[in-house]
Amino acid sequence: MATHCYIKKLQLHNFRNHSSFELDSSDNSVVVTGKNGVGKTNILEAISLLAKSNGMKKAKASEMQNKFSNENWTVHYGFFNGVDFNSIGIAKNFNKKLIQIDGKMQSGYSSLYRISNVIWLIPQMDYILLSSPSDRLKFLDRIVSLFKENYTYCYMKYRKAKHERSKLLRENILDENWLSSLENVMAVNAVNILRMRLSVLTTLQDTIDNQSTEFFPKASLKLSSQLTSSDTAEYFQNRLEENREKDSLTGRVTFCVNNDKFQVFYQGRDIPINLCSTGEQKLLLLSIILSSVKARCIHHNKAPLLLLDDIMSHLDEHYRRVLIEEVLSIQCQTWITDVDQNNFGSYADSFRFIELQYI
Ligand SMILES: Nc1ncnc2c1ncn2[C@@H]1O[C@H](COP(=O)(O)OP(=O)(O)OP(=O)(O)O)[C@@H](O)[C@H]1O
Ligand SMILES: [Mg+2]
Repeated sequence: MATHCYIKKLQLHNFRNHSSFELDSSDNSVVVTGKNGVGKTNILEAISLLAKSNGMKKAKASEMQNKFSNENWTVHYGFFNGVDFNSIGIAKNFNKKLIQIDGKMQSGYSSLYRISNVIWLIPQMDYILLSSPSDRLKFLDRIVSLFKENYTYCYMKYRKAKHERSKLLRENILDENWLSSLENVMAVNAVNILRMRLSVLTTLQDTIDNQSTEFFPKASLKLSSQLTSSDTAEYFQNRLEENREKDSLTGRVTFCVNNDKFQVFYQGRDIPINLCSTGEQKLLLLSIILSSVKARCIHHNKAPLLLLDDIMSHLDEHYRRVLIEEVLSIQCQTWITDVDQNNFGSYADSFRFIELQYI
């Protein structure tokens, strides 16, 4: 079972509407309550910066800046990494971010991503599984990166080479060595990307299938790709080479892991998620996220943090209870926002409650 990782201390300074906010917590999960607009989601956004440079709202550093202060925003985290504590600081510096870990300035995000792992479910994601194939694939990729540390790195390398190859083809620079070296980078990484996607899907599907019958509706996950898991990088590279002419005419990449199709079905009924009711769609999405966190806790040594923004309003009483019990049993620090503390009823002792007030 995974080691518990958690935020012990959180301090926001000039971050969105929080000119100054400080919280000491334990390893318990946290429920942030308060009226609409008081700043609950902004706290989760600050935490999400531990996993993604532009956070869960994909915002720029300047958007996070408190509109009423000229002093740059900073977020400090006292983070227990399973063994000891890290002091992490993220701050706005012009339009970029500075990252400091244990007093040392970092040149990029990689050290941070190695320490912390965060996954979230926010209202903006409600329709993610119904939206375009590329958005669905991005959702899957986020889950894969939760399990595979070098996934994002592989994906960035693949994307960079793909972008450069498209540029050469568009500008009709048909330099054989240059093109084939880019295609080689694409091929090697594409094969790894597909293998990692398939391996995580198998692990996740196993976890979903083993959830109790009391759990949320279960999803069947399917990925179809132009590649198979046994295809080699050489095979992929040959496909890229033979499609150069077509790709230069269409401006697209005919053979590509970005064309992979990720689909979600309601298990047992075998209907795709887009034919499910709105409530069922939300339950399936939550079911996938919770199962991902659980799978990650079972198969990896460090539990991620889970952020659930405004989740209770979607759920009836039965599913509220299922969610709370699941969160408590997964044993990862979960941050939940809600307008109403009463939704946690008899479980109140198991959470740390923070009630925000307008200042
Ligand atoms: N850069 C900023 N500077 C100052 N205030 C901001 C900034 N960005 C957002 N806000 C304000 O922060 C407030 C709190 O937003 P937040 O989304 O966190 O509220 P919330 O408590 O989650 O509300 P709800 O219950 O409606 O979801 C909003 O009133 C918003 O206008
Ligand atoms: Mg909110």
